[in-house]
Amino acid sequence: MKYLTFALAKGRLAKKTLELFEQIGITCEEMKDPTSRKLIFVNEELKLKFFLSKAPDVPTYVEYGAADIGVVGKDTILEEGRKLYEVLDLGFGKCKMCVAGPKEAAELLKHNELIRVATKYPNIAKDYFHNKKHQTVEIIKLNGSIELAPIVGLSEVIVDIVETGSTLRENGLTVLEEVCPLSARMVVNQVSLKMEHERIRKIIHDLNELQGNK
Ligand code: PRP
Repeated sequence: MKYLTFALAKGRLAKKTLELFEQIGITCEEMKDPTSRKLIFVNEELKLKFFLSKAPDVPTYVEYGAADIGVVGKDTILEEGRKLYEVLDLGFGKCKMCVAGPKEAAELLKHNELIRVATKYPNIAKDYFHNKKHQTVEIIKLNGSIELAPIVGLSEVIVDIVETGSTLRENGLTVLEEVCPLSARMVVNQVSLKMEHERIRKIIHDLNELQGNK
C-alpha cells in the first residue's frame, strides 16, 4: 500500500487537526513530542505520512502531489489560488476576513475613492475591491502586524483576519466591511482523489460523521 501523505500548517492548526484525526483513528504518536524539530512523521502501520509546512505552502504541496491531503485556512486557499479540491470544512479556526480601519474611513469606502489598502492577502483584497466592489485601490503587501498601517499613515484601511476583534479594538480600529467567513479546510490533490479514492473518501466520510454527531 502506498503512503497517504498529509501536509499540515505548522502551529495551532496542525495541533487541532491531529486532535480531530485522532478521533477517527488517524494517529501519529511521533508528532506529539512538543520539543521535536522534525518536519516529517510516519505511521508505518497505517501507511500514513504527515509533514509540517508554512501555511501558504500547504496548497503548493497539494497541487503538485507532494502531499495527497492538506489542512489549511480558507484564507490561504483563496490567496494562493492553487488547483486542488476543497473537500471539507473542518469547523475550527473560525474567523472572518474583513476590511478594517478607523471608523472615519467608512466614508472612503462608500464613495469609490482611490485609497490604499494594506494586507497580507493581496489577491483576496484585489478580488474584493476590484471585482466585487468595483473600487480602484492601491494594494500594499505587508507581512504581519497589519493593524499598524492605518495608524502610522501607510494606508487608509486594511484587509485582515479578525477573530475576537481584540487586536482591532486595542488599536482603535474597527471592522468596516466583511469580506468572507474563514475556517480550516481539508484540501485534496486532484489526481490523488481519483487514485486513492477509497482511502480518502473514508477519511472524508468519517470526519463528516464525527461533525454530524457533535
Ligand atoms: C492575526 C490577524 C490579526 C489578529 C486577529 O494576526 O492578522 O492581527 O490575528 O485576531 P483577533 O481578532 O483575535 O485580535 P496573527 O496573530 O496571526 O499575526 P500577524 O500580525 O503576524 O499576522
